[in-house]
Amino acid sequence: MTLRRTLLATAALAACALIAGPAAAQSAPKLKVGLMLPYTGTYAALGNAIENGFRLYVSEQGGKLGGREVEFFKVDDESDPAKATDNVNKLVKRDQVDVLVGTVHSGVAMAMAKVAKETNTLLVVPNAGADAVTGPLCGPNIVRSSFSNWQPGYAMGEVVAKKGHKKVVTITWKYAAGDESVKGFKEAFEKSGGQVVKDLSLPFPNVEFQALLTEIAATKPDAVFTFFAGAGAVKFVKDYAAAGLKKNIPLYGSGFLTDGTLEAQGADADGILTALHYGDSLNTPRDNAFRLAYAKTYKLQPDVYAVQGYDAGQILGTGLAAVKGDVSKKAEFAAAVQKAKIDSPRGPFTISKAGNPVQDFYLRQVSGKENKVIGVASKALADPARGCKAS
Ligand code: PHB
Repeated sequence: MTLRRTLLATAALAACALIAGPAAAQSAPKLKVGLMLPYTGTYAALGNAIENGFRLYVSEQGGKLGGREVEFFKVDDESDPAKATDNVNKLVKRDQVDVLVGTVHSGVAMAMAKVAKETNTLLVVPNAGADAVTGPLCGPNIVRSSFSNWQPGYAMGEVVAKKGHKKVVTITWKYAAGDESVKGFKEAFEKSGGQVVKDLSLPFPNVEFQALLTEIAATKPDAVFTFFAGAGAVKFVKDYAAAGLKKNIPLYGSGFLTDGTLEAQGADADGILTALHYGDSLNTPRDNAFRLAYAKTYKLQPDVYAVQGYDAGQILGTGLAAVKGDVSKKAEFAAAVQKAKIDSPRGPFTISKAGNPVQDFYLRQVSGKENKVIGVASKALADPARGCKAS
């Protein structure tokens, strides 16, 4: 009985295929895109902005990338590295996605990159700066639309040295993003004769800054350099001002400190200088068009995370167009991406052999709830890609 049913079903399917004809037989299967992002916790707003940006690009392409209609699968990674491998396997093994897009947190992204390598799955990283992703973990199936942690830190180190500051205290969360931002900063700052006199940190995502702010006040450095982002950055900037430090010891940061956060930080952020690959006042036709489309679609202003999500879509679209949607062609995908000039709202950029953007870092100053671009801190800055065999 069961065998008979199966035979009948098979015959029916075959008949359907004949009736539907060659057009149906040729239509490409959907492209399964797995979004692994934080939708809860201190980085929730960042995850949402990335998804918005990515979806905006896909919808501008009529819902298709590489000729295939995009179908989304989602996992909230909670910015929790302990759950990261299980979470990424939900997308790779359970949902069998063709492409992974994620994530925000460096520790989670490293776990994603390891699974992507083991399973040879395409991975586009739309934020996390973990140096290892485009360092020892680099490969033709891994590309980043954002930055390496080293990049904005290094750009800011040069700026702070040029300002004439000699002794600096750093303060950040104790994990890859904080450590590597500080390392990049130190490399540039100390090369120019400055000295980092103290590195302060607290575990991610803690926001009990008081004891550390007291230590900064006692150390009396010329300036402070920091990496914080999301909700933690909002609280840090407010606490720094409330502790009375803002007027005496200038605060510098990689630009995440003040991106997507200015409404909540209010006047406490005014005047802060940061370096980042995006700003609010670029006023180029490309950026203006993007900002208008984003604001119309989401009734929100975009930030750097929205741009990175949008550009993750652009990079994926570029690579998949070259392989006609065939995700198995990793080497051809990578070659196309590395040849391309990505027409980003941030300004055009290229992708290195290690898979990381080579891009300008703007010097920005907070004014009137905007990160105003006041110069270029570092032009066409390339990550050193230490440990990447492809570079
Ligand atoms: C990171 O963990 O790599 C990270 C998180 C938030 C940012 C930037 C980098 O804004």
